[in-house]
Amino acid sequence: MTYTLHVNGDLYQLDVPPQRSLLQALRDDLRLMGTREACGVGMCGSCTVLVDGKAVSGCLTLVPQVIGKQIITVEGLAKEGKLHPVQQAFLDHHAFQCSFCTPGFIMATIALLTEKPQPSEDEIREYLAGNLCRCGSYPEILLAVRWLIENRPSDSWESIPPEEQPSVETNR
Ligand code: FES
Ligand code: FES
Repeated sequence: MTYTLHVNGDLYQLDVPPQRSLLQALRDDLRLMGTREACGVGMCGSCTVLVDGKAVSGCLTLVPQVIGKQIITVEGLAKEGKLHPVQQAFLDHHAFQCSFCTPGFIMATIALLTEKPQPSEDEIREYLAGNLCRCGSYPEILLAVRWLIENRPSDSWESIPPEEQPSVETNR
């Protein structure tokens, strides 16, 4: 089957079976390795990406489920050499050690703040509970998220301007 995926503002054509997971498509077909694979069964959050602005687990999502939807991965966040504010906040607050979990936490944080710009402490913890960090960087991650809530630049969560039209880039 040929599917067209809209990823980070570009269109990609993939010839894959319908049971291909979004995670496999991103990593193995498009070589977007920033989306990490750990548990593969929806338990760790390392494969979190945005689909139409919502955080989803790439390992639990099939390619046919995201046709016509905007997918954003961690590779799509920085613009013109400038990190996305959430990326910058994680860096500034040393919110990682090995960084394996970091892309997933960053995408989940963007989804959280898009959905709820002023979440309570409980809401932050509940929203990010599906993301696991084996290095135990939770205190620094929470510091970064709290800093963003208090200091966030306005309108910074949208990574792709709506007026930006996708272009066909790759056929696979
Ligand atoms: S790899 Fe998808 S949730 Fe763990
Ligand atoms: S920083 Fe190593 S798993 Fe989170």
